[in-house]
Amino acid sequence: MHFGRIKPLDAILETAEKKSLHRSLGPVQLMLFGIGCIIGTGIFVLTAAGAQKAGPGLMLAFAIAGAVCIVAALCYAEIAAMIPVAGSAYTYSYATMGEFLAWTVGWALVLEYAIAASAVSVGWSGYFAGTILQEGLGIHLPAWLAAGPVALGGAPGGLINLPALVIALLVTWLLMIGTSESAKVNAILVAIKVTALTAFIVLTLPQVELDRFNPFLPAGVFGGFGTGVGAVGAAATIFFAYVGFDAVSTAAEETRDPQRNVPIGLVGSLLFCTVFYILVAAGAIGTIGGQPIMGPGGVPFPAGSEELARQCAMPEHAAALVCSNEALAHVLRQIGFSGIGNLLGIAAFVALPSVILVLLFAQTRIFFVMSRDGLLPEVLSKVHPKWHTPYVVTAVTGVVVAIGAAFFPVGQLADIANAGTLYAFAMVAVAVMVLRRSDPARGRPFRVPALWLVGPLAIGGCVFLFVNLPTAAMLMLPIWTVIGIAIYAFYGYRKSHLGKGRVEVHETEIEDIEPSIPGTE
Ligand code: ALA
Repeated sequence: MHFGRIKPLDAILETAEKKSLHRSLGPVQLMLFGIGCIIGTGIFVLTAAGAQKAGPGLMLAFAIAGAVCIVAALCYAEIAAMIPVAGSAYTYSYATMGEFLAWTVGWALVLEYAIAASAVSVGWSGYFAGTILQEGLGIHLPAWLAAGPVALGGAPGGLINLPALVIALLVTWLLMIGTSESAKVNAILVAIKVTALTAFIVLTLPQVELDRFNPFLPAGVFGGFGTGVGAVGAAATIFFAYVGFDAVSTAAEETRDPQRNVPIGLVGSLLFCTVFYILVAAGAIGTIGGQPIMGPGGVPFPAGSEELARQCAMPEHAAALVCSNEALAHVLRQIGFSGIGNLLGIAAFVALPSVILVLLFAQTRIFFVMSRDGLLPEVLSKVHPKWHTPYVVTAVTGVVVAIGAAFFPVGQLADIANAGTLYAFAMVAVAVMVLRRSDPARGRPFRVPALWLVGPLAIGGCVFLFVNLPTAAMLMLPIWTVIGIAIYAFYGYRKSHLGKGRVEVHETEIEDIEPSIPGTE
């Protein structure tokens, strides 16, 4: 099955061989890298939105989303170890299903990485305004500077989320001048995040009251198509908390013994996070409760909606988990650990920018590869003479990410990012199966066990989560894809290097530009 031009796998692999990166990463480094990309706004902030959708069923939601990611990760492991080159799902699709589908995947990855970077910026802003400004310095950020307009799901009186805008631009600047995160810094940030979550679990679990879990599924398992509520609706949203594990696949080429270490890195980091997330959800809900604020007809108000923002502005909901912008710090403050709650807030404040950095980095590199293939204007792959970074594409992406962060609420951004990510994950599973059929003899350092079960499960899981997103987020994918197809029809189709018969092995490779994959050096 393929549409349009296929990039010969041999040319892609030859490119990879030319780079011949040093194989230095072991399983522990890969897992640290994975956990560094994974733990972020999802658990620190979206726990509130997840509880608004599912109540205590949020724990089940974390398990469902984690399971889908683990089967998808196995597919990533096979193809990443086999085609260890830059561009991730876009490159895999180019080699298996043709240029047209590869373009749609690359285009969807913009939703994954760029919109996710906006979401994490908004998540960071909640901790900055709450922990650093309010608790630490006693400064109350005016409502109009702390969130986007209420019509878009911001707080009443909101206009622009200034801290989110600033952090997105700051990280963009760091990437433009070539700042990379060293493996050491990544390891320190992972330690900070894991310590914060461990402290949260240790302090909350002894105070859990079982009554708080009752009713366990106040909005049911299936809240209804398009509503985005219920346990599966929450799973579709907090799937965001796992996004980023696919970044591990980009390091396959630098991995020692990839056959063993790539799957360990991918699945290991996901399993670790799944267990932590379920315990954190249990601790948060079991102590201060996490029942949704119900609207008419006993259906929870949509997370990130104007109605919910108005409800949360009422004094009786001031302490509700579902209304907090800094969910985990809020829980600790509520149960009498204000000091540690503030330390957890500082941990989020310090560590979340590195998640923004990795996501933005991944986005610019995908654009870079697409532009180098001729599908996007060449100016985007211009490398700065001094900084050695693709500064044009970084600046353009960063400004768009900052605008998204300034005006939209975290939950809606995360849902849109999830829509694009689920499409890309499903296509990777398809690519793995296509390649098993079309090129069975090629060496595979890692083979998915029972692929004909795991592959369809991964695709089915992604489709299942997708159809449980709120309608608006679901619609973003087809709308975004139609825009992408129009651009391809008018630009990429004619300008494609492959279309012009150029399948050259590139001399300027992605690793020639700085920084290399953050957190792995
Ligand atoms: N998984 C990442 C986060 O939760 C994107 O922030």
